[in-house]
Amino acid sequence: MCGIVAYVGHQPAREILVEGLKRLEYRGYDSSGIAILNDRPYLTKAVGKVAALEQRVWKDNPEGSVGIAHTRWATHGKPTEPNAHPHVDCTGQIYLVHNGIIENYLPLKKRLMAAGHRFCSETDSEVLAHLVEEAYQGNLEAAVQRALQQVQGTYGIAVIHRAHPQEIMLARRGSPIVLGVGKEESLAASDISALAQHTDQVVYLEDNEVARIGPGRFSITTLENRPVSRGTTLLEIGPESMERGSFPHFMLKEIFEQPEAVENALRGRINHAEGVAKLGGLESVFDRLQQARHLIIVSCGTSYYAGLYGRYVFEALTDLTVETELASEFRYRKLNLRQNTVVLAISQSGETADTLAALREAKRKGALVLGLVNVVGSSIARETHAGVYCHAGIEVGVASTKSFTSQMTILVLMALLVGRGRDLSYEEGMSIIHGLEKVPDDMRAILAQSDQIRKLAEKYCAAQHFLYIGRKYQYPIALEGALKLKEIAYLHAEGYAAGEMKHGPIALIDPAFPTMAIAPEDGSYEKVISNIQEIRAREGHIVAVTSRGNTTLGSLVDDIIEIPRNHEILTPLLSVLPLQLFAYHCAVLRGCDVDKPRNLAKSVTVE
Ligand code: G6P
Repeated sequence: MCGIVAYVGHQPAREILVEGLKRLEYRGYDSSGIAILNDRPYLTKAVGKVAALEQRVWKDNPEGSVGIAHTRWATHGKPTEPNAHPHVDCTGQIYLVHNGIIENYLPLKKRLMAAGHRFCSETDSEVLAHLVEEAYQGNLEAAVQRALQQVQGTYGIAVIHRAHPQEIMLARRGSPIVLGVGKEESLAASDISALAQHTDQVVYLEDNEVARIGPGRFSITTLENRPVSRGTTLLEIGPESMERGSFPHFMLKEIFEQPEAVENALRGRINHAEGVAKLGGLESVFDRLQQARHLIIVSCGTSYYAGLYGRYVFEALTDLTVETELASEFRYRKLNLRQNTVVLAISQSGETADTLAALREAKRKGALVLGLVNVVGSSIARETHAGVYCHAGIEVGVASTKSFTSQMTILVLMALLVGRGRDLSYEEGMSIIHGLEKVPDDMRAILAQSDQIRKLAEKYCAAQHFLYIGRKYQYPIALEGALKLKEIAYLHAEGYAAGEMKHGPIALIDPAFPTMAIAPEDGSYEKVISNIQEIRAREGHIVAVTSRGNTTLGSLVDDIIEIPRNHEILTPLLSVLPLQLFAYHCAVLRGCDVDKPRNLAKSVTVE
């Protein structure tokens, strides 16, 4: 969602802060702002993309080497300049940026206003600047601690004060803050992507901690002012992973990175001799995992669809009963977690608020809670009992692509691990392993058809509505294909289980309502063919994704996209690629902002 960057050092802060904001823009971006300390502090804000702010900053060319900046994704109050951060206290001494939601901001605001504080915005965040002002008695760290002790909700904040021109205070509860420590300079951000250009030495702040950074130094305390001793960690992601290279968009780059992302997900994780997966992150809980009877997978968005796929895979390879649940629903259900229940949280960012709340609830109820996460060191990775990293690399495009196939790959590995400990045979295990090892090359063969898929996008992108259908393993892919088209091309798309289509959506079918049918020659093929016939009988146009060399579909559908043949369980890892490419090309043809679709954020850290 919102993004924070802070810099204190010897270089002009303006470039570093603006560049950092641009790297965070993918998280949320309806307005932005920047404050730089100097004899006369500089503050400017702009509505819209960071480019609007950047223009002002270049024009004003502010001096100063200590500053904070923010990109906002509106929650409380519209995207306007007064609502953009940094917020300033009544004295004009304190500048503050905030990610998260202050749940008790109304009573706090009322009390502060009664005490004479003047508010300029409709945001929940502004109370924090006034609380720090109220608590300040010469020690900024103590003021921040005292202010935050009164707050309910979530926050990641950065605060500067004119009387402390060589330091920045940071704090977190629920919204990530990472410190970057360089030579004679320090940075902080809500996301490592804004730091990677400057340093590879980082420190992850934990909940209820306050950090003070100065040029090349940092210290951490708890909210209760107990010192925390923590060293820096080496950042393994290099700055080049944040570059688009020759690709016009990050999303296309990330679609094309999928063969490599699957290779990374598999690397060192297969034991051929025993036909099983090796997942070091699960070793500590392996015994409990072996006793598990029930699995509940919780996640949001694309990660939820990966979870739905995981359900079919776990059911096929293990004897677990499996439920998949949207994290936003799971967290408010009256949970009756049976004994031996494992909860698996899937998240690319590791920061999604609903998924985090769901896993906390499951932990409270005594379940073994596992994570499948891409961002190393993220909240979900840290709060689960054990887990597996995707190692898909930074994903910048808001619409998730390589993380999805990475998650699916690891779900197969997890199911293989559990299944081989039960009644899955060596031969069955090996046939999955052989299939997995073939996936990267199969993906490359599909990516080579990108131009052909662009032609299909040209043919169909004038339609306003699409139906996506698939069965069993391909049902989650129908949902994900439709989601991609909605997210980035702003086209209405319904993802449906092919067999359910006749219970409603078939009423919509006419020559202007095309269907994407995912119909590889697998165990459900004949059934999907019947559904295709039903659409044809209503004059609906059909594009089918099917197995290479299929000889039966040609006469039934308008267009065909072929994918290589692989194990039935693994085919969804392939069938989703043409749908990602189709959505991508439709979005480009329609002039949409592919990497930063309207209203969406990469990391949804509010409920
Ligand atoms: C947002 C993103 C989606 C993502 C979802 C869940 O809505 O735009 O691409 O799938 O959050 O995010 P997570 O980081 O938990 O996978």
